[in-house]
Amino acid sequence: MISGSTGILGVIGDPVQHSASPAMHNAALTATGLNFVYVAFHVLPKRVPEVTEAMRALQIRGLNVTVPYKQAVMEHLDEISPEAATIGAVNTIERTPEGRLIGHNTDAYGITASLREDGGLQHLPEQVVLLGAGGAARAILYALLQAEEVKDVVLVNRTVARAEALAGELDTSGRTRVCSPQDLAIDGARLLINSTSVGMSPDAEVSPLADDSVLHNDLVVVDIVYRPLHTRLLQQAQKAGARTVDGLGMLAHQGARSFEIWTGTKAPVAIMRETLENIASSN
Ligand code: ATR
Repeated sequence: MISGSTGILGVIGDPVQHSASPAMHNAALTATGLNFVYVAFHVLPKRVPEVTEAMRALQIRGLNVTVPYKQAVMEHLDEISPEAATIGAVNTIERTPEGRLIGHNTDAYGITASLREDGGLQHLPEQVVLLGAGGAARAILYALLQAEEVKDVVLVNRTVARAEALAGELDTSGRTRVCSPQDLAIDGARLLINSTSVGMSPDAEVSPLADDSVLHNDLVVVDIVYRPLHTRLLQQAQKAGARTVDGLGMLAHQGARSFEIWTGTKAPVAIMRETLENIASSN
């Protein structure tokens, strides 16, 4: 029940009406009995500078930030977490009780938690293959390099120069090797993550891996694409006997972390995941 003391959470983006975050977070709020609602705000580019003023004026407790504003909001915040600063993107804004606006990035946490909980990887393997060098790859490469046990990341991208730039920016320990899709050999890698948009509906018949003979049964294969849920890459992986992790894991876990930042309450991640699955199966 919405009352006079109901707090507000939300997401800003353009477009935003297809976001699954309102359903996911409202399910979590209902399950935990917290007196908040979570709504989607369609914000036009020229109004982005006003979002932080609106948060302060309306005492909005927190916002998620989605495409295309993850960088654009940064200059308007009072503080950026070290993680968000290194990744170079904010997906979560927290308004503290004192009214300070802090930018966080929960995507790196999201992939790590999904690898652990959905992929069964308490410790990450020494060698990892990461496909892609765009916005999603930034948070994932950051997360991989945070894990000391990861000794070697093979960063594969169609535009090799973009992968080189990303590795140069994020990797200060020289653990990232860049290679083109044509030269990809999986060798000793036990984990392969697709962070490209290849295979996303309506191009669901394509895979970011042209040659699926590189896959083997000792791999965990993660696809962050979740439309469709069972992507061509995950089908190839399953055929090769590899363990597969779909893109709803990272989405649920990044949302759970945002929820915890705003509410201080442990997020019901299983309920959040189930809500996402229901949306995916009704699409
Ligand atoms: P996001 O924020 O979702 O990561 P992005 O920053 O546009 O989106 O990055 C998209 C990623 O998918 C990039 O790695 C891109 O490769 P390029 O850097 O070479 O553009 C990759 N990608 C998109 N379409 C692709 C395609 N048809 N073939 C190969 N890679 C593709």
